Amino acid sequence: METITRIPVGGGQPYDVLIGRDLAAHVPGLLRGAERVAVLAAAPLARHADAIAGTFTRQGVRTVRIEIPDAEAGKTIETAAAAWDRLGAEGFTRSDAVVGVGGGAATDLAGFVAAAWLRGVRWVPVSTSLLGMVDAAVGGKTGVNTAAGKNLVGAFHPPAGVICDLAALDTLPPDDLVAGLAEVVKCGFIADPAILDLIDADPAAARDPAGPTVRTLIERAVRVKADVVTGDLREAGQREILNYGHTLGHAIEKVEGYSWRHGDAISVGMVYAAELGRLSGRLDEGTAARHRATLAALGLPTTYDGSAWPDLLATMRVDKKARGSRLRFVVLDGLGKTSILDGPSDDLLAEAFAAVAR
Ligand SMILES: NC(=O)c1ccc[n+]([C@@H]2O[C@H](COP(=O)([O-])OP(=O)(O)OC[C@H]3O[C@@H](n4cnc5c(N)ncnc54)[C@H](O)[C@@H]3O)[C@@H](O)[C@H]2O)c1
Repeated sequence: METITRIPVGGGQPYDVLIGRDLAAHVPGLLRGAERVAVLAAAPLARHADAIAGTFTRQGVRTVRIEIPDAEAGKTIETAAAAWDRLGAEGFTRSDAVVGVGGGAATDLAGFVAAAWLRGVRWVPVSTSLLGMVDAAVGGKTGVNTAAGKNLVGAFHPPAGVICDLAALDTLPPDDLVAGLAEVVKCGFIADPAILDLIDADPAAARDPAGPTVRTLIERAVRVKADVVTGDLREAGQREILNYGHTLGHAIEKVEGYSWRHGDAISVGMVYAAELGRLSGRLDEGTAARHRATLAALGLPTTYDGSAWPDLLATMRVDKKARGSRLRFVVLDGLGKTSILDGPSDDLLAEAFAAVAR
């Protein structure tokens, strides 16, 4: 029988992350007592969503399938409003629930729909992308994009449980799988170097969605995220370390008009953060070089157009993670040892960028 790994996430509203193959039958058990369940998914995940809806229907739960636009196009207040209209028409009450099936965009939206309906009903993300499994679905952050920007509107609303269905990865486009691995590598550098040893030993195995290495990597990365968010649901402290590589990474995403995959952008961002660590005398050369080697072995980008620096710097200064115009970076003092570099000089910022520029 297929084994299921359960990883607990603590805090005020604890829940488990379930990792395994073909887990549709396990979703209803996370939402006992619901008389109605809305299953939200975009067209590419319709088959998975139908399978999950079927398990509820067979248990006598009224199931409402809501199709949403794919990817970021679905992560909008308009899509959420349309879903709330359906919940209203179907008479959803406080004991009813929402299930979001898909990548991070679909689960962020579904969580937000659940967070605001009747001021919060139960929900379960069924994560089908690697990035969703190791990052978006774990931690209770939900939200939508608005004209003001990406992810500025949302709520902390922990789920009743998280499903990481490894069988879904069989159909995930390879470039999306690789981009998701960037967040796994991040977990390796900030907290669990065994992740890096596994990848370095066999990068091809790390990219094989059906193999045992991917499963181990997902489990280890989820444990890292679960441990961090258990101690800091609302991003008041330790959760900041999850932003390793994200300050420059977010700027790249913005400058590229969100045409780059998130994981690709933070891959470059991590190499940059490593250079900041090395040049400020905190991080040894070997560990900084390992960033490039490990990420490149997976096929992730490690350099960026040198002429973009003025744009990137200006964009970083308005990033929501900066305090005023002072930039703040998560850096490493060593493998698994994070610290904060607060207000680095312009010279240091530029010198580190020169090391990633092409
Ligand atoms: N809430 C959080 O803490 C958090 C953390 C990180 C990222 N996010 C959010 O996650 C989103 C990115 O997530 P993503 O990378 O999963 O992108 P995504 O959700 O846009 O999915 C990417 C594409 O892959 C498709 N897809 C997903 N799973 C598939 C599968 N198994 N088979 C075939 N196609 C599949 C989707 O339909 C989509 O077209 C962003 O909106 C980001 O803001 C949220």
